[in-house]
Amino acid sequence: MAELLNQASDQPQDLKPLKILIVAAEAAPFAKVGHVAEVTGSLPVALRELGHDVRLVMPRYGRIDPARFDLKPVAPLQQLSVQVSRGHETVYITEGTIGDAGGQVPVYFVNNDKYFNRDGIYSYPDDDERFILFCRSVLEMLPALEWQPDIIHCHEWHTAIIPNWLKSIYLDQPFYKNIASVYTIHNLAFQGIFGYRVLEIAGIGEYSFVYPQREDQPNVVSLMSLGIESADVISTVSPTYAQEILTPQYGERLDKILRERQADLYGILNGIDTTHFDPATDRFLAANFNETSLDKRVENKLDLQREAGLPRNPGVPVIGMISRLANQKGFDLLAQIIEPLMQLDVQFVLMGTGDHLYHDLFRQVAQRYPDKAAYFMTFNTPIAQKIYGGSDLFLMPSRFEPCGLGQMIAMRYGSIPVVRQTGGLADTVKDLDPAHNTGNGFTFQEYDSMLLYGAIVRALETYKYPEVWHNLMARDMMADYSWRASAAQYVALYHRAQAVHRQN
Ligand code: GLC
Repeated sequence: MAELLNQASDQPQDLKPLKILIVAAEAAPFAKVGHVAEVTGSLPVALRELGHDVRLVMPRYGRIDPARFDLKPVAPLQQLSVQVSRGHETVYITEGTIGDAGGQVPVYFVNNDKYFNRDGIYSYPDDDERFILFCRSVLEMLPALEWQPDIIHCHEWHTAIIPNWLKSIYLDQPFYKNIASVYTIHNLAFQGIFGYRVLEIAGIGEYSFVYPQREDQPNVVSLMSLGIESADVISTVSPTYAQEILTPQYGERLDKILRERQADLYGILNGIDTTHFDPATDRFLAANFNETSLDKRVENKLDLQREAGLPRNPGVPVIGMISRLANQKGFDLLAQIIEPLMQLDVQFVLMGTGDHLYHDLFRQVAQRYPDKAAYFMTFNTPIAQKIYGGSDLFLMPSRFEPCGLGQMIAMRYGSIPVVRQTGGLADTVKDLDPAHNTGNGFTFQEYDSMLLYGAIVRALETYKYPEVWHNLMARDMMADYSWRASAAQYVALYHRAQAVHRQN
């Protein structure tokens, strides 16, 4: 990525503020299903702080209360007729903001009762129509807003049709001519796979493109592949994952298409919102602390043990884990070593939901080892923060991990990560070398349960040396996980997208 930054800083227009539209299906604090929402909610604010005119657009789901977020109608956009399939839908746009008073980012919401005013966010049978309507509304609202972005930055499959449209049905429209597109992949495992009808819904059925096909399923369209194929530049959320997805092992059958676009593919590590995730101010912690007051941290451990119904014991190492319970996250490895782990002098606190197989497994483990294991079968912010602030180790043995935010939040809270070296985990966590006092966690390479077990045992052995541990916690807490560096890299990426756009 250094290369990307140098290229951009050589360009004089680097100084000119950009107009950037971020398009996403979810963004914190409005709608949060996964960690994508953390990124789409905090990147715009960081870009705004760098002086750019950045705006965000997303659907207004039923759960987003207009009164709570003070959403206002956008005058020229009270009735916008938008084409989907062969018909039209009427949408209207409302506006809110994110960020502090000094750096507020406008957030536009696409409203349509039929498609978005529902309890949930995803997993409806008409998700194809819903997100195609959303994307079409995004492009259609811009002329009425009289705001012509330099960059449209699309996230995940829900928005992947936009780069395609800019090169198909909108190609000849002057308003869109100079808009460069950036497409960001957060997880290649979720591609938006539909039947061919999705192309009709999107109005591109008649375009004689050769659609990139998945070799295993020739009769389907992966919307994500359209974004990869059409965007001026593509990015993903860590440099290592950007390399990994070029291989069949990680490419989810899009590796061939990704290799074709390798020259325009970049990896930029996510940051975290360090104001929101701050142990010195986190209101869910029993005791606030920073790297100079680490002795207070034990209060949080006792509080977590109380919350989890485990014996309150400051000396026992607590392993925390907050995750979707899925094989991607390494649960198949963990299942193989949970019994021997329970024989050690540890406590294990898990929070998350996912595959029923793992719900059952960890419920049983918690029943059989009531003094050692606790399982919160939910996602709950107060408990999550208590796990970050009260655990000693934080486990992420992922099979693959595009970026991962948990390890960065854990480090900021002084919980030491134990991770597999993959994707963003490999970019953010380096193995401890006590002899040279380097490294910030415990890592293992191959996807193998004994190697995971070995990494945990090394961590537990190190925990027995309070001074080494104290240094490790302080080092992890002082590192910079903020958006600052990453936002500057995105700006460089936007300039790169403009350069690519001009060439085509
Ligand atoms: C997805 C990825 C995760 C990443 C997040 C935000 O959830 O699985 O690794 O941190 O997106 O980019």
